[in-house]
Amino acid sequence: MERTSWLILVIFSCLLAFSSGRELKVRQEDKLAAYNHTLATILVEYASAVYMSDLTELFTWTCPRCDGLTKGFEVIDLVVDIQHCLQAFVGVAKDLNAVVIAFRGTQEHSIQNWIEDLFWKQLDLNYPGMPDAMVHNGFYYAYHNTTMRPAILNAVKRANEFYGDLDVIVTGHSMGGAMASFCGLDLKVNHETKNVQVITFGQPRIGNAAFASYYSKLVPNTIRVTNEHDVVPHLPPYYSYFPQKTYHHFPREVWLYNIGLGSQMYEVEKVCDGSGEDPTCSRSVTGNSISDHLVYYGVELMCEAWRSCKIVHDPGLVEYSKTDLQGNFILSRDPAAPILKMKTQSNGGGNHI
Ligand SMILES: *[C@@H]1O[C@H](CO)[C@@H](O)[C@H](O)[C@H]1NC(C)=O
Ligand SMILES: *[C@@H]1O[C@H](CO)[C@@H](O)[C@H](O)[C@H]1NC(C)=O
Repeated sequence: MERTSWLILVIFSCLLAFSSGRELKVRQEDKLAAYNHTLATILVEYASAVYMSDLTELFTWTCPRCDGLTKGFEVIDLVVDIQHCLQAFVGVAKDLNAVVIAFRGTQEHSIQNWIEDLFWKQLDLNYPGMPDAMVHNGFYYAYHNTTMRPAILNAVKRANEFYGDLDVIVTGHSMGGAMASFCGLDLKVNHETKNVQVITFGQPRIGNAAFASYYSKLVPNTIRVTNEHDVVPHLPPYYSYFPQKTYHHFPREVWLYNIGLGSQMYEVEKVCDGSGEDPTCSRSVTGNSISDHLVYYGVELMCEAWRSCKIVHDPGLVEYSKTDLQGNFILSRDPAAPILKMKTQSNGGGNHI
């Protein structure tokens, strides 16, 4: 890792050490989601698959990560925002009786740069219709002001028209987790979707305590999984001396960590309290690891290669593709149509954009 990144982490650790004191409580104990380990291990595979850059394999659900617990998933829309380097899919998981929406995390810059940026990021946008609720404008706009939102809402509508009202489960890792949270909230607030569940992995803080409080009332069925010393859930930093002004996580956190007993290591999954900032969960350790950010439940949450917004897709998909003037595109299929059985070209025969 670069020297500057280490420096940032060191400064950050010091700040954390000094940040003790009064904290605002965001308590919603009774209504909060129960943690379901099985469901979390299924969803982490969706959050991993959305990182794949071969869009043909992703759209036809034949990618190397499109197997295992997610086998049989039917993608309805695959949304690729070239302008902002974002990617998401919407589809139907019949075994879960649910529409699953997954957002990819950051890919454009190296993850170190992204983490450094997050470190200094101030709360800078009022969440519409929620007095005092402040959020991070970058995450907010990534969902609300790009091709993501209209495409996703349209796909959910089409899925519900065809399958009847399914539950909606929204997931994502890292920045994708931040977008998943805004999406879950949007579905609840603006589209009256009844059963919305959000499960994110290693997501950063996205708003202040007032926002966290609204959020947990509106989307109580939310689990925010954190892992060991993963740095990202510690960002932007929590400043205890400014409880009204600081970023504040919403509940419910589930913290994964290992304990050694004798020569054995055990993975613990700690279900945290309703405050969003349980001092006995990830807050009890220093967020100083990037590698803990990239693997959850043993599943890799990253692209095969960082940095480039590389996209590969097959010319055969043209009939499913809609492209706008900026080059953003959506691969879309009618839920009523039979599942695509596309022969994929594995040796780079697709288009590189
Ligand atoms: C946990 O989730 C799985 C997968 O959706 C489901 O089959 C199971 O019934 C759930 N368990 C509980 C206790 O709700
Ligand atoms: C929202 O998107 C439009 C069109 O891409 C852009 O012109 C505008 O600057 C964006 N607003 C913000 C605040 O990012």
